[in-house]
Amino acid sequence: MDKEREYKIRAARKDEHIKLFMETVHASDNGFRDIVLQNNALPEIDFGGIATSCKFLDKTIDLPIMINAVTGGTEYTLDINKQLAKLSRECNIPMAVGSQTIAIENKSMRNSFGVVREINDSGIVIANISANSSYENVCEAVEMIEADAVQLHLNTAQEICMGEGDRHFKGILNNIKNIVSSLQTPIIVKEVGFGLSFEAAKKLYNAGVRYIDTGGRGGTNFITIEDRRNQELDYSFLKHWGISTAQSLLECKNVSGDLKVICSGGITKAEEIVKSIAMGAELTGISGLILRELLDNGYDAAKACIERLQYEMKVFMLLLGAENIEKLSQIEYLLKGELYQFYKQKFL
Ligand SMILES: Cc1cc2nc3c(=O)[nH]c(=O)nc-3n(C[C@H](O)[C@H](O)[C@H](O)COP(=O)(O)O)c2cc1C
Repeated sequence: MDKEREYKIRAARKDEHIKLFMETVHASDNGFRDIVLQNNALPEIDFGGIATSCKFLDKTIDLPIMINAVTGGTEYTLDINKQLAKLSRECNIPMAVGSQTIAIENKSMRNSFGVVREINDSGIVIANISANSSYENVCEAVEMIEADAVQLHLNTAQEICMGEGDRHFKGILNNIKNIVSSLQTPIIVKEVGFGLSFEAAKKLYNAGVRYIDTGGRGGTNFITIEDRRNQELDYSFLKHWGISTAQSLLECKNVSGDLKVICSGGITKAEEIVKSIAMGAELTGISGLILRELLDNGYDAAKACIERLQYEMKVFMLLLGAENIEKLSQIEYLLKGELYQFYKQKFL
């Protein structure tokens, strides 16, 4: 296929992803209802002294949330990236851009990603590209936005539902291993909404990966989105597929104490963020909630949404007696229901 045609297909897909994301609501169980945190009637802290700031990739951020990978590569998505970058700068939280392959193939679109670094010049900006990419392309993605880290995405379930999607999945682990051994920039391997299991995370850990993003089931669902794009094939038989976000976090945290885990996939509530940190996540990743708020209600509403999450986190932290994120990460949590059954079978 010639380059121009390939770009047109990718560009159309980028815009359609946003449009179809806005049209589909896929509320499924992210697993967090099976995590229990208990009220502390004697918190012995003052509300005014509670801090949500923490460190990530050697920088201090205001709360343990990142704007996770969404988009870039077209005129329409350039505008979205500008607004997301402004949000990440004003809220002092990290932001990952969407997959950059489109701008590696069509240099005129580099600005739709580069603009994120221009706007957020000193914050944490994270590159994104398929885990199948060549080392050279990963380096180009990093350089394009002077990235603090790069996400390598795994998206088998999405690709198989795409008419034009990849059908070759052999050799990806080895590719990741080679990239990890050569690249100086930290690497985060992420799923896009179907979750990472203990086994997959362990293989990645053994390949040298030290940052994982669960990308669990429970929020944005690319099987539903791709199914809408692809009128010929029906993949609705996969609609419940995936490892829930809370389960994926539990699985990944069982791999090793020095595997840093970002918890993402259907995170929409402060309670889920607080539970993620108590379960050992470094921070949480949010795409759908912020994108929807931005496109439905505008920039100020998206900013207010993040501020509301921060305020509500502080309320939970008060009720748990945790005055900072480090203390929150030491809070005891309990498992119940399906998640406990599963945990017992797999790890006890
Ligand atoms: C419109 C849209 C485009 C996305 N594009 C990418 C992408 O290019 N690369 C990637 O790794 N993840 C991509 N994602 C997946 C998100 O980063 C995230 O893993 C997923 O949406 C689950 O999180 P959520 O439930 O908070 O949306 C995209 C998500 C949305 C909504």
